[in-house]
Amino acid sequence: MLRTLVFPLLAAMAVMACAPQAPEEDLFSASGEVIAFGGGDAGPAAACMRCHGLSGEGDGGATPRLAGLDPGYLHRQLDDYANGRRDHALMRAIVRRLDGEARARVSAYYAGLDFKGTEMEDSENPEGAALYLRGDPSRGLRPCAQCHGVAGEGVGPGNPPLGRQPAAYLAGQLDAWRTGRRHNDPLGEMREISRRLSAAEIRAVSRYAAGLPGLRPRAVRAASPAAHRGDPRNDASAPHRRGSGS
Ligand code: HEC
Ligand code: HEC
Repeated sequence: MLRTLVFPLLAAMAVMACAPQAPEEDLFSASGEVIAFGGGDAGPAAACMRCHGLSGEGDGGATPRLAGLDPGYLHRQLDDYANGRRDHALMRAIVRRLDGEARARVSAYYAGLDFKGTEMEDSENPEGAALYLRGDPSRGLRPCAQCHGVAGEGVGPGNPPLGRQPAAYLAGQLDAWRTGRRHNDPLGEMREISRRLSAAEIRAVSRYAAGLPGLRPRAVRAASPAAHRGDPRNDASAPHRRGSGS
């Protein structure tokens, strides 16, 4: 008699234990989606997708891509707009009306969005390519690729992707560091680098970086297996990108 009661109970518990967990992370980013489309406490005018695009792809001009960036990076940028380490009146006004929980949720949402990288457009830009891939040792300039990846895919949670970010946005950030309007790079590396670049170099390297696919090598390889097979470096940086955020 007891067995007939206990057995189904145990069976049910076993099923619950094995069922794919209703992932808390998904719920978390689902409520981030509400903020992305409705603006949350900041109101509908602040709905992120109005400016950052329906899929977080950016607007091709001054508004960056958010899709697929590291959640810790995104969250810290929001905090830095609020505390002024990144000076931008519009983002500051929006973020100040979102509490820490809302910032974390909307960051998780954008970090989880798939980013569809596209082909490179800017092959005729030797100056930008040289700076990006080789730097200029005579001026102590390290290659951008060292921290941002040869495909502009970003390296680890702290070095964001640059590929497929709008060129105007990238140039704007380099300018903001040069002039001190943005001073939130943890080790001051971007402040240092941006001061060594001329205005023309900023334009060239931004155009080059914007034309990169912006995907992790592993994702690129999956899209075109033949072209990338057998290169051991393809997996080297793959595991860091998401989830290990700060
Ligand atoms: C009215 C347009 C507009 C709206 C609405 C908007 N943004 Fe932005 N956002 C911008 C612009 C423009 C920038 C670039 C600012 C700069 O130059 O620093 C930006 C920058 C950012 C960045 C920095 C990204 C990076 O790569 O460093 C983050 C993160 C961000 N926005 C998140 C959000 C979130 C989350 C929301 C919704 C709650 C939102 N934005 C709503 C226009 C907007
Ligand atoms: C030593 C490592 C390092 C090198 C080399 C480097 N960067 Fe960065 N870069 C960073 C870090 C770290 C950040 C993120 C700063 C922050 O946390 O806000 C960053 C951020 C950026 C951003 C802002 C991206 C965004 O989403 O807002 C741009 C643009 C950028 N770098 C361009 C360049 C260019 C162009 C070069 C080469 C001329 C370069 N970087 C070389 C470390 C580096």
